[in-house]
Amino acid sequence: MSTLIPHGACLEWQPELVWINVVSDAMVALALFATAFLLGYFVWRRQRDMQLMFRAAFWGYATFAALCGISRLLSILLLWAPAYGIEAATKGVLAPVAAAIATGLLLMLPRMLMMPTHVQLQRAYAALEEEMRHRRSAEAMVKRFQEIEATEAQVRQAQRMEAIGQLTGGVAHDFNNILTVITGSIEILADAVKHRRDLVPITELISAAAARGADLTQHLLAFARRQPLQPRATDVNAMVIDVARLLRPTLGEPIEIESMLAHDAAPALIDPSQLSTALLNLALNARDAMPNGGKLTLETKNVVLDENYAAMNREVKPGDYVMVAVSDTGHGIPQSLLEKVFEPFFTTKQVGKGSGLGLSMVYGFVKQSNGHIKIYSEEGHGTTVKLYLPQAAGVPVAPVAETGLLRGEHGDESILIVEDDALVRDYVVTQIKRFGYRTLAASNSAEALAIIDGPERIDLLYTDVIIPGGMNGRQLAIEAVKRRPGLRVLYTSGYTENAIVHHGRLDPGVLLLPKPYLSADLARMIRTALAP
Ligand SMILES: Nc1ncnc2c1ncn2[C@@H]1O[C@H](COP(=O)(O)OP(=O)(O)OP(=O)(O)O)[C@@H](O)[C@H]1O
Ligand SMILES: [Mg+2]
Repeated sequence: MSTLIPHGACLEWQPELVWINVVSDAMVALALFATAFLLGYFVWRRQRDMQLMFRAAFWGYATFAALCGISRLLSILLLWAPAYGIEAATKGVLAPVAAAIATGLLLMLPRMLMMPTHVQLQRAYAALEEEMRHRRSAEAMVKRFQEIEATEAQVRQAQRMEAIGQLTGGVAHDFNNILTVITGSIEILADAVKHRRDLVPITELISAAAARGADLTQHLLAFARRQPLQPRATDVNAMVIDVARLLRPTLGEPIEIESMLAHDAAPALIDPSQLSTALLNLALNARDAMPNGGKLTLETKNVVLDENYAAMNREVKPGDYVMVAVSDTGHGIPQSLLEKVFEPFFTTKQVGKGSGLGLSMVYGFVKQSNGHIKIYSEEGHGTTVKLYLPQAAGVPVAPVAETGLLRGEHGDESILIVEDDALVRDYVVTQIKRFGYRTLAASNSAEALAIIDGPERIDLLYTDVIIPGGMNGRQLAIEAVKRRPGLRVLYTSGYTENAIVHHGRLDPGVLLLPKPYLSADLARMIRTALAP
């Protein structure tokens, strides 16, 4: 039988003492349980971010608070029940826990002192932000430099192409004159020796070589943007369909042709015959890139090249374009060669296989037409060449074929020929005489004007665009027509300067015979010029 008395008896059961004990113990116990719960909840939520040591300390302290809370509840119990054994046991557990926590805190103190304060954290954060700002501005600067570098590379490339163009144009111009003489004379020669079996193959050989030379010269002139263009509103879809039809037998079975034509493709303001040549050149390149077969895709689409695109591609004027794209699944072009492919005579084909003028022609034609050209290629996957051609807003679409040219070759009118190159002049005079006309010849504008002021009958002035003597062909023609109203004019030129061609286009109503030409072309154009 226990002789222990409850704690209340010690207080002589005085109600105020008992209740002060009960209420204050209960409140302390509640506060301790709440602390234990809050610490436990905090560690549970932040356990991933906390070091193990701190986690253990928090859990230890939460347990300690809970045990303290229990001991406070026991104090209330002891007021009425003398369960001093339980109280002693609880205190026995609490004591080592408290000692362990105190030791732990002591050990952790140096590390806790090293933990950054709120102010330190704020400073570190501000420094980090500053560094990030520096980094961002440095990155922006690097990007800007890269853009400037890219633009400079573009400018350098454009200047290079311009310089090559001028050189090419000059050479091609002279070659044209020479070829005009050869292609024309060989016809006369072939006619004269048609009974000499031994000489006929030779004339054929010369003729073929001259034709090849003329072809190359045309490409060179096209690259140099000095080809007289006759732009008109052209249905690009019809052109692509025509070219695809032409290509099918050339490309053969292993190459599949697919057309993806926009039904609403706007007409393009270009010279259709040149576009046809350009598409053929691109398709032939595609064929050569797919020796084991593949797919050739021809595509048309209306596109808008906006200010942003123009900012990245300096030569582009923002606006509406019709895009014609030629893609293949061939061997592609290495990145290092992409810049070079438009240059004349750049070829990777074997000697005799490629002249390196195909893409140059396409490039010159597109640029001269105020368009834009872009080539994309990935080695081993294929190539796409995109031509952006200016849309022909408000210009009616004209049929592709030439109309209104007369077929008759002969006449008896009188023609004044103005040509500075003696070789070409003699050749032209001979040709024109053969057609039955009477001829007068001058080597420069001053001589020509003297003849015009003279008594001779003149029905047609046939003049080169670029002539010496103080006037160009265009000025001479204006002066001549003033002095002899009703005089007809026919121009000829290897390449055309501003006098006759405004930005590479013919003035309306101007008749031009591009060099080199066949005598049949000359005869036809003379009749056209003299037509009533
Ligand atoms: N579709 C393509 N796929 C792979 N390489 C191409 C393609 N188009 C052009 N190239 C490369 O660009 C070079 C130049 O092409 P370009 O058409 O100007 O000349 P070419 O085809 O070599 O000769 P040419 O067209 O005068 O007969 C080619 O030799 C080739 O290396
Ligand atoms: Mg080619």
